[in-house]
Amino acid sequence: MATPKETLWELDPHTTAKHEILRRYLAAWFPILGTYHSRIVYIDGFSGPGRYKNGEAGSPVIALDVAVSHRKSTVGEIAFWFIEEREDRLAHLKQELAAITVPAHFKITAEAGRFHEKFGKVLDSIEADKNVLAPTFAFIDPFGFSGIPFSLIERLLKHKRCEVFITFMVDAINRFLEHPEDKVVQHIVDAFGGAEAVEIAKGSGDRIVKLRELYQSKLSGAAKYVRFFEMRDRQERTQYYLFFATNSELGHLKMKEAMWKVDPDGDFRFSDATNPSQMVLFEVDPTKVLAAQVREEFRAKGTVTGFQARIFVENKTAYLKKHMTAALKHEEESGHLKIDEVKTDGKKRRANSYPDEARLTWA
Ligand SMILES: C[S@@+](CC[C@H](N)C(=O)[O-])C[C@H]1O[C@@H](n2cnc3c(N)ncnc32)[C@H](O)[C@@H]1O
Repeated sequence: MATPKETLWELDPHTTAKHEILRRYLAAWFPILGTYHSRIVYIDGFSGPGRYKNGEAGSPVIALDVAVSHRKSTVGEIAFWFIEEREDRLAHLKQELAAITVPAHFKITAEAGRFHEKFGKVLDSIEADKNVLAPTFAFIDPFGFSGIPFSLIERLLKHKRCEVFITFMVDAINRFLEHPEDKVVQHIVDAFGGAEAVEIAKGSGDRIVKLRELYQSKLSGAAKYVRFFEMRDRQERTQYYLFFATNSELGHLKMKEAMWKVDPDGDFRFSDATNPSQMVLFEVDPTKVLAAQVREEFRAKGTVTGFQARIFVENKTAYLKKHMTAALKHEEESGHLKIDEVKTDGKKRRANSYPDEARLTWA
């Protein structure tokens, strides 16, 4: 998609899906973080005008909408910080924000500028004073790849309970990788925090996959849990990845739940892969794929508990507990998996159940 020049532009189906993930995740994030912290921060670093051409809500309006509907379970201050480079879009956003009634504990700032400059200054001063950032969710949603230096994302992730959700425009990066202008290539180098991406252009193989793997490995060096969600077009070409990076086990789980809830239609496909050679297609029944993954993980480990299996699935794969239950049932029925009659708590196990206390042995 060409970068829109108008103040408002048309919403496309990928963006609807992205918004749906955002909405669902925030519906968990605001109440979870807002219940225990005196201040939490939602940053929309590339906020846009707040609305699309046909009246659909943009990300700032979505975030406020979700926070308003969970206002009773948030006790402390919620700071919303919207940054938009273009004055016309910012003016539109301000009009939109003015029309939303918010409770007194919401503090909204919408300002003109570049995300990396504005947020960089905030981090500089916090770090200089040896302060810590309040729990922060940063939505970084550029049209392209400039203005998203990895160093900034890394600094953000160093702060406790801070996480990022990034639109990573891999198709554009791939197309500009060998651009003759150094300035353009430098944006790519900055986005990756090093020149390895440029080296990818010189090698062989699938550049999109390699760029994704590189970014994934960079984020994995900065956060404990990294997930991505792939957006493809009708021609099956990857347009971009939505990357999520967090140090929170619960946040990771909630993001996976949000991703699984989004219903793909014919215009795009979603996928996720922890192991890049095992693409997870969200529209395909995951039972057999996950069954093979769990078997691979545990078959040489003797007897393990249901707890170990669940933690593996929840923390190390794209799947959820309900998928694990189906996968273990499949394993048991196909004779790969034996389950003890008696659980670790001394009680009898119910058929077709795989609780934390179950004892599992792969044949
Ligand atoms: C993809 S749109 C954002 C859409 C919005 N997040 C939503 O979901 O409704 C990207 C926006 O970032 C703005 N922008 C571009 N470069 C920027 C920068 N360096 N810092 C902040 N905003 C920027 C653009 O003008 C555009 O409005």
